[in-house]
Amino acid sequence: MKGNGDMGDGMLFEVRGLAKRYEANTVLHDIDMQIGRGEIVGLIGENGAGKSTLQKLIAGVEQADEGSMLMHGQPYSPRNSAEANLRGVGMVFQEQSLIKNLTVSQNIFLGRESRYTRAGLVDWRAMNRDARAVLAAIGITDIPVEKKVLDLEFATRQMVEIAKVLDITGGVAGAGSLVLLDEPTSVLGDEDIRRLFAEIGKIKAAGNSVIFVSHRLEEVMEISDRIYIFKDGANVGAVTKTEVDEAILYEKMVGRATTGTYYKVEQQAVPTDEVVLAVKGLGQLGTFKDVSFELHRKEILGVCGVVGSGKEALCSVLCGDESPDAGEIFVKGVRRTFGSPKDALRHRIIAVPKERREEGVVGTLSIAANVSLSNFDRVKQGGVLSARLQSDLAWHWVKELGIKCSGIHEHVEYLSGGNAQKVVFARVIASASDILILNNPTRGVDVGAKDEIYALIRQIAAQGVAVILLGDTLDECIGLSSWILVMKDGFVQKEFDAPAAAKPSQVEIARYML
Ligand SMILES: Nc1ncnc2c1ncn2[C@@H]1O[C@H](COP(=O)(O)OP(=O)(O)OP(=O)(O)O)[C@@H](O)[C@H]1O
Ligand SMILES: [Mg+2]
Repeated sequence: MKGNGDMGDGMLFEVRGLAKRYEANTVLHDIDMQIGRGEIVGLIGENGAGKSTLQKLIAGVEQADEGSMLMHGQPYSPRNSAEANLRGVGMVFQEQSLIKNLTVSQNIFLGRESRYTRAGLVDWRAMNRDARAVLAAIGITDIPVEKKVLDLEFATRQMVEIAKVLDITGGVAGAGSLVLLDEPTSVLGDEDIRRLFAEIGKIKAAGNSVIFVSHRLEEVMEISDRIYIFKDGANVGAVTKTEVDEAILYEKMVGRATTGTYYKVEQQAVPTDEVVLAVKGLGQLGTFKDVSFELHRKEILGVCGVVGSGKEALCSVLCGDESPDAGEIFVKGVRRTFGSPKDALRHRIIAVPKERREEGVVGTLSIAANVSLSNFDRVKQGGVLSARLQSDLAWHWVKELGIKCSGIHEHVEYLSGGNAQKVVFARVIASASDILILNNPTRGVDVGAKDEIYALIRQIAAQGVAVILLGDTLDECIGLSSWILVMKDGFVQKEFDAPAAAKPSQVEIARYML
């Protein structure tokens, strides 16, 4: 019944009175939504508002407790994602779902291998050829499909995931399918975002629809025809993009007006003369080379560069995750080498890593246990862990960062993406280290909470901490940093001073990135 059986009113998908509970916690209440054919619907809301949960219900990954859904006017209640795929519905998840030990091709055709299998043998050549075509369909020609996913950059993995879902939904329905994108851009660089948006334009033109979730409001406004706003599990209204601007969306979503001083530039501290970290001729084969700089107390150093510029690898080396092949690192004047993040922590260096689910938190542990992980010294009493100190520390940060949870004993795996990110941030900031390496620290965090996290970063810098920041956007990097390094092809191309009164522009910086 696909493709026909339209409701005759241009409607592709409808949600009626949908509700979802996790035990006593109702996370979606009585949701009604309509999605037109060829319509791109934005979905915004604070962390924990229920955006991912709604998409999972539509994608068949979770089942609703009440309500119904219609696709092309026909009852739609998929019991799993394979059933949803067959109806032309596919989802790109907020947390990447590719299997690391499989190749790109194997991931793209996971669950669809039968078409390449004959007498128990897989025709790898055919599968690789088709995988290349799937990627080429969205303009990607430089991803080796025989490579294991674990050997790819984080952003590249995301593009594979997007290409895969577009192939599954497009391949089934041709037109009239529904693509669910849950924060697809949060790990992508500008170029990939442009590619993705061009692709979304094509999907739309072919008569398919999209539900697009993002915390970058300007992005949602650019791509969406209409925007739904969720608050505490309820649909509190829809606006067309011509009716609103970013400030109005912010207010509708957060419930208070933006202060307008997003990056708190007026609170930017002036760095002291004390060098807390010095790096001399640092390099790692194949990623970056000959990097030297001095980081001062109270300084926020922004490192800008495109994916593959070497900035990620530099951070990995500085926080002890990877080893350098050349050069030296001095912490407060003393040469140090660290073989692990634990070693680095001993020298009071700690990082908010980019891949929170793998490196940032332990999902099967509680919020309290996660916050304590880098802070055992602070939660011990007489040499043993104190449940009370652990609990006090966790409650402090749950309140400070507005972490939405049922309590500090809730496992992190049940938190929404943005709330899990806040737990990572809490663990790191609670460590009271001297040097913080923040790789995309506000990834997936809603605009209201971002405001507060920025204020907190300002505050700790002013108290004497030195920060290295890899920003979510160029704007964030410029806004927060007092000094900026631009990396390209593994080298530092340019340095910019960024005092509160004289910030460099995005254009000036981008010129050295490309
Ligand atoms: N499996 C689960 N068990 C218990 N609670 C859950 C589960 N999954 C989600 N929740 C809760 O449901 C609520 C909504 O979560 P959801 O992931 O839909 O939020 P979101 O709007 O996507 O937020 P974010 O912007 O942070 O990604 C949260 O309070 C979360 O803790
Ligand atoms: Mg989510």
